[in-house]
Amino acid sequence: MKLNVIVTLCALFSLTRQAPPRDECVCELINSQKAFPHDKLSTVEDNATKCTDNITPQKTLELESLLLGLERRLPQLLEDVSMLEKEDDGDLYAVLSLQVVENELMEIKQLIDRLNGSTLGHQRLTTDTNKQLEDLRAEMMELEAYDTMQVVLRQQDNRRLRRDLEQCKNGLHPTTQPTRPPHGNCPHGEFMNITGPKVYTAGEYPGSYKYGAWGRDPKPEAGKENWYWRVMLTSGNKFSNYVRLYSSLSSLIVGVSTPGNVMIHSSNPTTNTIQGPNVVLYKGALYYNCYNKDAVCRFNLTSKTVTTLQLPKDTRFNSKGNFCHLDECYPYTDLDLATDESGVWVIYTTKQDFGNLVLSKVEEGVPPTLGQTWRTSVYKQGVTNTFMACGVLYATRYVSKDVEEIFYSFDTATGAERFNLGIFINKMPPNIYSLNYSPVDQMLHAYCDAYMVSYKMVFSD
Ligand SMILES: *[C@@H]1O[C@H](CO)[C@@H](O)[C@H](O)[C@H]1NC(C)=O
Ligand SMILES: *[C@@H]1O[C@H](CO)[C@@H](O)[C@H](O)[C@H]1NC(C)=O
Ligand SMILES: *[C@@H]1O[C@H](CO)[C@@H](O)[C@H](O)[C@H]1NC(C)=O
Ligand SMILES: *[C@@H]1O[C@H](CO)[C@@H](O)[C@H](O)[C@H]1NC(C)=O
Repeated sequence: MKLNVIVTLCALFSLTRQAPPRDECVCELINSQKAFPHDKLSTVEDNATKCTDNITPQKTLELESLLLGLERRLPQLLEDVSMLEKEDDGDLYAVLSLQVVENELMEIKQLIDRLNGSTLGHQRLTTDTNKQLEDLRAEMMELEAYDTMQVVLRQQDNRRLRRDLEQCKNGLHPTTQPTRPPHGNCPHGEFMNITGPKVYTAGEYPGSYKYGAWGRDPKPEAGKENWYWRVMLTSGNKFSNYVRLYSSLSSLIVGVSTPGNVMIHSSNPTTNTIQGPNVVLYKGALYYNCYNKDAVCRFNLTSKTVTTLQLPKDTRFNSKGNFCHLDECYPYTDLDLATDESGVWVIYTTKQDFGNLVLSKVEEGVPPTLGQTWRTSVYKQGVTNTFMACGVLYATRYVSKDVEEIFYSFDTATGAERFNLGIFINKMPPNIYSLNYSPVDQMLHAYCDAYMVSYKMVFSD
């Protein structure tokens, strides 16, 4: 609530900064009234900015993540309780359900404890901020009284009118919207922007396992719809031999791994274990770069078997065709696996392609095979990561430690390439080691220096 007020205040201030429209008409104004105290407004503005700076995204994000976890957990509890009520015939099933509900309650209690902990930590901050906010509000009221020329009020009105007009236009002429390029079978339209982070958590092992990946199976098995997975490169920041599963987002955040680990092999590394961070889970199987091979491995978590898919001759592997930024490359990022609405993809580079990105569809047969392949003209070393959404390949580059840009796209439906997307990711830690789109909820999951971060992708429809 308090945050909202501050944001609204700041929005108000930013309006006053806008450059006046370049009208051709000139008016002479003789103002007999007291001049508007711009100096004072600008001090208030400065103070408001300082005030907002105090409440950094980092401070609120943990709280938001925990609340989000709780929000997702409660409907599940409700569902389980109603199932328990239905089964109230006193037999074994009811006892089992009761245990499930008890587990749920336990996890919710843990969430609430964490929430309570961070709330206490935020209380001092909140009290300080509240005081500052009160001061600012008083100043603003005073300034409003000065606003005899109704500058601020008019701007507010204009803004409201413009919004209404926009809504009205859209409502009246739904067919005259600007024409957009076709998006194949994409149900959400064109990818426009990214917001967030929505989730920002250190998870179960704060500070450990810098490299890895996490996300959600887009085509989960029945009963595992809310599960999340995490793969950490546990050996030398290069290799791993298991997937860790969590029964919900909140379990991942609080670090309670109920299903636990699913092991690929007891040794790490060895034949067909995981090499590099860019892995994905799809239909209960993990796709990744096989240890020491130019091949994709598919590990079936149910049968615990691995099948492999050999990539074309001269595919770069063993840290020879990595994603890079400035003068640093991310080790063992030769193969990037991706999922979208249509399934699994692999992004890599080969000698013949002079280090440019190559994209292939992975066909899910037994064994998996390489489907259609597209060659791009973007140089892999100028890219920090890639992901797929709706059959379009997106690539990112490092702008600064706080900002990563989604700058490139390749549409597999049309073959069209763009190098000027200009969609910016607001980073938490500076290095993104894996990016992975979840078609289930249009979230983009990033694994950054041991943190798990997710963003909401905004589409045009
Ligand atoms: C802005 O903040 C400074 C220091 O915190 C304070 O002295 C000043 O009165 C504030 N000014 C306004 C206009 O709120
Ligand atoms: C929150 O934490 C405080 C201090 O640790 C404790 O006294 C209080 O009972 C807790 N509240 C809840 C709802 O757990
Ligand atoms: C994209 O989202 C960010 C953050 O919400 C916003 O600041 C920016 O203006 C948006 N960009 C466009 C082109 O809509
Ligand atoms: C995994 O193995 C199970 C049991 O053999 C099988 O039913 C399932 O289709 C397999 N999944 C994949 C993705 O191959």
